[in-house]
Amino acid sequence: MADGVTGDLADGAADRVTGGAAGPGRMAAPDGSGPLAVVTGAGSGIGAAIATELAGRGYVVVPTDIDEVAAQRTAERCGSPGSERMDVTDAASVADALGAVVARHGTPEVFVCNAGISRMRRFLDVSPAELEATLAVNLRGVFLSGQAAARAMVDAGRGGCIVNVASMAGKQGRVPFLADYVASKFGVVGLTQAMAFELAEHGIRVNSVCPGYVVTPMQDRELVWEAELKGSTVGAVRQLYVDDTPLRRLETPEDVARVVAFLAGPDAAFLTGESVAVNGGAFMD
Ligand SMILES: NC(=O)c1ccc[n+]([C@@H]2O[C@H](COP(=O)([O-])OP(=O)(O)OC[C@H]3O[C@@H](n4cnc5c(N)ncnc54)[C@H](O)[C@@H]3O)[C@@H](O)[C@H]2O)c1
Repeated sequence: MADGVTGDLADGAADRVTGGAAGPGRMAAPDGSGPLAVVTGAGSGIGAAIATELAGRGYVVVPTDIDEVAAQRTAERCGSPGSERMDVTDAASVADALGAVVARHGTPEVFVCNAGISRMRRFLDVSPAELEATLAVNLRGVFLSGQAAARAMVDAGRGGCIVNVASMAGKQGRVPFLADYVASKFGVVGLTQAMAFELAEHGIRVNSVCPGYVVTPMQDRELVWEAELKGSTVGAVRQLYVDDTPLRRLETPEDVARVVAFLAGPDAAFLTGESVAVNGGAFMD
């Protein structure tokens, strides 16, 4: 049945989907001539760790962020050839940044849609503007930047790999004070499947990671909000996060970054449309 499995794919795409040498997930070279990876929201937290992890595995990494100073800081840490300012909510900004990457460094083989925001509010108190702001970055941003990256990959005809950063809150809504965020991340999980389904014929794999309680500036802000909303303390809320995690510690950005690197690499050559839980067991599905 092997012929039947790959028989409907576009010319040459079968090799790419199954991890052919020139396709997505090819092994990164250790000499700095490796495949090109672009990461959004790479100026901080998980995005910076993903950029660093990929660079350590031989990828040439171009960090992007709405904060260009932060993106450049990550670029220096990664030995990158450059960084770009990219606001993922703005189609023109995405097109400009990606156009500059392609012109200067070539077409990315790996694109990580990581940029995201959160703001804790009771569901009853979330304003329309706050809802729009969250959806704009977390869902529209993944859609626009992933679409632009996929178009570039299709034009180049070499396949590729897209990894979206969703969340444990993209698979369960039993999360306090984050209704707009939950809605956005459930959207990312569904979008990941739709992208994977449509882009498979081009040899492009699309997967997500669903992190849990990750120690980043986003978590620092959430600890303060949640403590305020519950009339508790930051320390007590942090302990709740640990207690909710069977592996009994908070997650590090590197825990997430290593799984992103796996999804981008050749060991995941037959994996697409999945949203992989990386949360120490805090939510199992
Ligand atoms: N920290 C956690 O516990 C956790 C858990 C699950 C999922 N996540 C997800 O991981 C991703 C990274 O989160 P983090 O914890 O590293 O947050 P962070 O706040 O530390 O970093 C987010 C980065 O995104 C950038 N950004 C914000 N808006 C942007 C925009 N419009 N365009 C481009 N860049 C923009 C910020 O400048 C910042 O550098 C997010 O998608 C978040 O939802 C985080």
